[in-house]
Amino acid sequence: MPEKNYIICSIVGTRPQFVKLAAVSREIENFKNKSFGIKHIIIHSGQHFDKDMSDSFFSLLGIPYPEINLNIGGGSHGENTGKMIVSLEKVLIKFKPHLIFLYGDTDTTLAGSIAASKLNLKICHIEAGLRSRNKNMPEEINRILTDHCSDLLFCPTNIAVKNLISEGIDNKKLLLVGDVMYDNFLYYKKFKVTPSIFSLEAPKDFVFCTIHRAENTSNRKKLSTILKFLNQLGEQNKIIFPLHPRTRKIMEKYKEKLTENILLTAPFTLFETFWLLEKAEFIITDSGGLQKEAFFAKKKCITLREETEWTELLEMGVNLLVPPNSKNKIERIETFKKTKPNFNVKPFGNGRAAKKILDISITCLETL
Ligand code: UD1
Repeated sequence: MPEKNYIICSIVGTRPQFVKLAAVSREIENFKNKSFGIKHIIIHSGQHFDKDMSDSFFSLLGIPYPEINLNIGGGSHGENTGKMIVSLEKVLIKFKPHLIFLYGDTDTTLAGSIAASKLNLKICHIEAGLRSRNKNMPEEINRILTDHCSDLLFCPTNIAVKNLISEGIDNKKLLLVGDVMYDNFLYYKKFKVTPSIFSLEAPKDFVFCTIHRAENTSNRKKLSTILKFLNQLGEQNKIIFPLHPRTRKIMEKYKEKLTENILLTAPFTLFETFWLLEKAEFIITDSGGLQKEAFFAKKKCITLREETEWTELLEMGVNLLVPPNSKNKIERIETFKKTKPNFNVKPFGNGRAAKKILDISITCLETL
């Protein structure tokens, strides 16, 4: 038994963070060293709380269950973030972690960065340096503030490094490690399964679609524009559309109707998502994670937003940005479908991002 244990706290709360955590937690579980051990404490903010948005990820991906769940979710952004800061401060004082791992750009990430920095704890930001240049997105504010509070900024791509340099962040803090989501894609792709709802008959020739962002769903007019466009696309294509709870609630509230060719479902598991990515003709999404997973699965992706953080995908021609309010959407998609982009470029590292993150973090721990 090593004499000394270092404590790393991972703070998570939303679906995409559980997925990123899976890659990091795997590396920590495999870590062996004679002179010291690592105790990994997972703190769940409670931001996502439905079973298929939270618990099922821990069981399916074999992530250790959180040591504590703050159960803060369902409120407004400010309310959630404020409550999380208050609760996290108490928890961090109790656990006395040597390092804090924060993931992505959610309200949970921001709350973690503020609580930890007020306690002078060392912060590692996983997926640092992304920018959409749209400060109306809550995520953009969360990212900028978290990056500027962090001690180690683990960047997934070269563009992320450049973004941080242009904001004057000290070069020594910037570490290009690749994307933990690519680690996961390589690790889990063999586990892909036909979604349980298709156990009798699996669909063929379909478009896989997800829409959940506040900027696309909170404004009724914009949501109606998106649904009208999907109905139009649905005239020629079968569309599989799992609903995020926010999207489902808003569609129910406004009694939005979709054509029969659009199949609305509950959220899928990660392994079912990988099956859908493999079988789909193309992807339509406003999710950051799915844009990359589509690329990993060598599928073209249409991003229904005004901008994307993953500009390398646009440059490669594998992703087409289609603002929901823009004209000629169907025509642009038809033209895009005929293109033959190169999927063999590797801007997201070599699938060893989590290993690099842990190695660098350990070097940092040894100098404490
Ligand atoms: C959050 C992240 C977003 C990420 C997304 C992944 C922020 C600002 N945004 O957005 O970056 O892409 O998670 O899904 O943190 N809800 C439920 N059950 C749940 C989860 C959410 O009913 O398990 C409902 C609640 O009404 C909630 C709403 O969905 O108010 C929105 O959830 P919230 O966590 O605020 O934002 P997301 O859209 O999920």
